[in-house]
Amino acid sequence: MGVVGLAVMGSNLARNLASREGNTVAVYNRTTAKTDELVAEHPEAGFVATDSYVTFAQALTRPRTAIIMVKAGRATDAVIDELVHVFEPGDIIVDGGNSLFTDTIRREKAVRETGINFVGMGVSGGEEGALLGPSLMPGGSDESWVTLGPILRSIAAVAEGEPCVTHIGHDGAGHFVKMVHNGIEYADMQLIAEAYDLIRRGTGKTPAEIADVFAEWNRGELESYLIEITAEVLRQVDAETGRPLVDVILDQAGAKGTGAWTVQTALSLGVPVSGIAEATFARSLSSHPEQRSVSRELPGPDAATAFADDPDAFIEEVRLALYASKIVAYSQGFDEIRAGAAEYDWSIDLGEVAKIWRGGCIIRAQFLNRITDAYRAEPDLPVLLTAPYFVDALTRAQEAWRRVVTISAQTGIPAPAFSSSLAYYDGLRAERLPAALIQGQRDFFGAHTYKRIDKDGTFHTLWSGDR
Ligand code: NAP
Ligand code: ATR
Repeated sequence: MGVVGLAVMGSNLARNLASREGNTVAVYNRTTAKTDELVAEHPEAGFVATDSYVTFAQALTRPRTAIIMVKAGRATDAVIDELVHVFEPGDIIVDGGNSLFTDTIRREKAVRETGINFVGMGVSGGEEGALLGPSLMPGGSDESWVTLGPILRSIAAVAEGEPCVTHIGHDGAGHFVKMVHNGIEYADMQLIAEAYDLIRRGTGKTPAEIADVFAEWNRGELESYLIEITAEVLRQVDAETGRPLVDVILDQAGAKGTGAWTVQTALSLGVPVSGIAEATFARSLSSHPEQRSVSRELPGPDAATAFADDPDAFIEEVRLALYASKIVAYSQGFDEIRAGAAEYDWSIDLGEVAKIWRGGCIIRAQFLNRITDAYRAEPDLPVLLTAPYFVDALTRAQEAWRRVVTISAQTGIPAPAFSSSLAYYDGLRAERLPAALIQGQRDFFGAHTYKRIDKDGTFHTLWSGDR
């Protein structure tokens, strides 16, 4: 098999593949110097270095399998165009980059016409995952999965004895699921950041003390990679100034765009992923220093350290609010996957998706087992958070969650993801929503009609304001 694109991800994935018994891996990179460097640095891998697409194709046994790990977008199209010319029907091209799923649908259709199989595959776990075991989300045809399955199972992360890979569904399904995975990651990170901010400004604790709180949380139901690394980030001291590193880092969060894709896609599917959207917007707000600097004098309460004397009860309430909001974020993300599967005609096993995220990827967590259990018990569960385990968790958390959101509003410590998650939860619970009024307004100004609760049909009222 072969790997095209030998930057961080491709070179580590190639080394992972080469380390498996019986594998010989051909490698190709646009800039040949990088190929030579990788091969020289890792003689143990036994790579076959190639310097053209022709020699790359010649080095592979049939059916040829090539994994592309290059920049998403035009670079991926350029590499596919080259490979299609040197590959033959029955061969397999796998795009492991962070491609937009609609690009993958387009590419799969075009490549299929040549008789070559095209598989869009989400790869999660960054550099370390690529080398030691990523979470893999392949789409593509059933035929390619027959060949790819054993290869991918051999290089994927292992969680509780099972490889973190499954055939997600046809064409763009794998990249779609990877996109939502990243959206959930945005929400998870934002919720943790809000919890930190509330504790810091609410209790006056230092980052190192809050690191202990997160380390403690990591021993309970919140146990996850992100909580674990949060404790480490908060404990870090800046070597130059001696200050907590978190206080020296500029408070403007970057984004590579997959969170925005998740939200844009959810909007077009009509799925309310409000937690993911708030997390994405919170990064945008942070990244407008010019707006923030002119807004500092706006009136509001001083975020006093109201809980400095008795922080423990408040910290426990923040923990519960974090857990409840996290359940909402995952429920919304899985709702988007369900809606995407219906729209694009993919058969996606939601329980399997949660399972393959347990290892390798950034959102890996114990909690994912509960999601798998929920979908195993009821595959057509309409809303994940109504599964018994989550209802129980939300029942335990909801009063504390409300208090934390109230405190956020009263003290002026922004908690957009906590607040919007609670509003979503209450929106789901509501017996009646004010959507009835919106339908009335729509009928008033645009004769859009409405339905009634007491009889079938479509109705229009001759409003007194009708012109
Ligand atoms: P990257 O910086 O995204 O891409 C660099 C690679 O793309 C190099 O091999 C480069 O070749 C090649 N490339 C760029 N333009 C090209 C073109 N027009 N034709 C041929 N090759 C071209 O590398 P990366 O960080 O390793 O990521 C690879 C893919 O994996 C990306 O799609 C990324 O989104 C995805 N991914 C990244 C991570 C992560 O944590 N970094 C995690 C999961 C997935 P040259 O050496 O010749 O410039
Ligand atoms: P993974 O699946 O392992 O999460 P990813 O989707 O490529 O890999 O990205 C993981 C995280 O690393 C994301 O937070 C991503 O940035 P965004 O939050 O802006 O989307 C970040 N990341 C990925 N590639 C990166 C790069 N080349 N430079 C900086 N950050 C990067």
